[in-house]
Amino acid sequence: MLKTRGLYFSYRPEGGTPFALAGIDLEIYRGQHTAIIGPSGSGKTTLLKHFNGLLGPTRGEVLVSGRTTSCTSQLPSIRRICAMIFQNPDNQLVATTVEEEIAFGLENYRVDPKKIREQVDWAMGKLNISHLAAYPPHLLSGGQKRKVAVASAIAMQPQCLLADEPSSMLDPDSRRELQELLRSLQRELGLTLLQVTHYLEEAALADRVLLLDRGRVTADGPPEKVLTDLGRLHAAGLTSSTAAELAALLREEGLALPAGIVQNQELVDSLCLLKPSG
Ligand SMILES: Nc1ncnc2c1ncn2[C@@H]1O[C@H](COP(=O)(O)OP(=O)(O)O)[C@@H](O)[C@H]1O
Ligand SMILES: [Mg+2]
Repeated sequence: MLKTRGLYFSYRPEGGTPFALAGIDLEIYRGQHTAIIGPSGSGKTTLLKHFNGLLGPTRGEVLVSGRTTSCTSQLPSIRRICAMIFQNPDNQLVATTVEEEIAFGLENYRVDPKKIREQVDWAMGKLNISHLAAYPPHLLSGGQKRKVAVASAIAMQPQCLLADEPSSMLDPDSRRELQELLRSLQRELGLTLLQVTHYLEEAALADRVLLLDRGRVTADGPPEKVLTDLGRLHAAGLTSSTAAELAALLREEGLALPAGIVQNQELVDSLCLLKPSG
């Protein structure tokens, strides 16, 4: 679905600054939920922007469903395949009501008005925000703004969602709700979901986790592999999920916990299975 070959990117190719992306070779498969983690400044946003052609490689190539982002005539179709949800929803809100906001992208593509109405209603239904249709987006709460941003993205019926820290700056309940919505949309619609997150609890729920460090992929695999490599995560300045960190401490205390624990429920289940020791 998404592919990079020898991808290097510099914001100032002539200026001698280090590459923001320094040799990335990746293949992201259709329908996969991939979490991108990494310290601040490691290149997560820069990488995401390459998949809908907002940025183009300094060297190498990025392919979206076989189309290269280096060819400007391909960009409109690439952007319909890959919808981007930006880190700060305020940068994305342009209209005076929620429904106009969600219709905006479709209008730009000159979709038939009747079809726009259908898709906007469908997207609002999916995000449980139909009651907010006539509301001004800038007056919504942070969680509601994110839902509008997700609705705007899925209204375009993309194959792939690129979500840049969609749940940052939300309270824990809204964060959980948004994460569950994204995950269920991904499954129900068969979307390829590429999600940058600095909550490793969220990464624990993905199919695959990519660790970026200084513009390179330094770990790539299922959460039970990447999130249990605590040495590597700590060296990159990250703390793993609570369950993975706690399981490691309990193992140090001699508890015979199985390997690969990254989610709270897995830790609880494993602890309950341990035989009481007298
Ligand atoms: N618009 C920009 N101009 C110049 N440098 C940038 C710009 N955006 C990001 N960078 C630099 O590129 C590197 C990667 O940034 P970014 O992709 O935003 O990282 P992350 O999303 O992982 O925090 C950082 O060193 C950052 O300072
Ligand atoms: Mg970022």
